[in-house]
Amino acid sequence: MTKTVVVTGANRGLGLEYCKQFLEKGYKVYACCRAPESAEDLLKLKQQNSEKLETVPLDVTNPAQRVNLKYTLQGDQIDILINNAGIYGHRMNFGEVESEEWHKVMEVNTVAPVLLVQELVGLMPKGAKIILMTSKMGSIADNTSGGSYIYRSTKAALNAVGKSMALDLSDKGISVAICHPGWVQTDMGGPNALIDTRTSIKGLMGVVEQLGPENTGQFFNYDGSVIPW
Ligand SMILES: NC(=O)c1ccc[n+]([C@@H]2O[C@H](COP(=O)([O-])OP(=O)(O)OC[C@H]3O[C@@H](n4cnc5c(N)ncnc54)[C@H](OP(=O)(O)O)[C@@H]3O)[C@@H](O)[C@H]2O)c1
Repeated sequence: MTKTVVVTGANRGLGLEYCKQFLEKGYKVYACCRAPESAEDLLKLKQQNSEKLETVPLDVTNPAQRVNLKYTLQGDQIDILINNAGIYGHRMNFGEVESEEWHKVMEVNTVAPVLLVQELVGLMPKGAKIILMTSKMGSIADNTSGGSYIYRSTKAALNAVGKSMALDLSDKGISVAICHPGWVQTDMGGPNALIDTRTSIKGLMGVVEQLGPENTGQFFNYDGSVIPW
């Protein structure tokens, strides 16, 4: 039976590359993004894979669109859910941090992934997998340079969320991986980043493949190694 994957933030960067590599593996892909009608690269991919790729409008912070995704999926189960959409927020040094921006980033990076899983978990069979795209910048052990209060804290909180979700969903046979993609050349990572999207996602496809009840709830690097919290 054809396996199904749902990807958020699918129009560019790592989300788009996830779509490409899952299509290469024969998956049916639900590619979710805020504005599918103007997502040029994704629409090109859809032209080449019209049977296997469906675009769905989804701002992950929009409750009605999360519900709409569930109804769009009716009849299909979700084998893999990739919570990829994320933002860095404005760069603010100590002394400049303000609450409105922090709340906005927290809503996208931390709160929305939980609400989306709550909405969709009923469509996930035993053996399904949830990927939370976090960052090594959310590792407290790895923080040797300070700063980035907003981004770091929202990803550290996402890590905590992922651990609880792994424990809470283990009875259903659903596994959760908390994944760092490396420092990747995307709009977020910038041109000086160390690796390209193909290399990052190729590595993460291996992590997804290896994920199961025995290693659920861990913080993985894109090469499969485990990152300290
Ligand atoms: N690149 C890196 O070096 C790096 C390192 C560590 C972790 N990560 C994480 O990896 C994930 C993907 O990063 P990336 O480098 O591909 O970033 P990116 O190039 O900036 O792309 C971000 C994606 O998230 C989407 N997005 C943002 N807010 C959204 C919302 N409210 N609803 C739905 N979609 C939304 C964007 O959609 P729009 O086009 O509509 O804005 C875009 O598709 C993020 O979670 C990021 O934190 C990246």
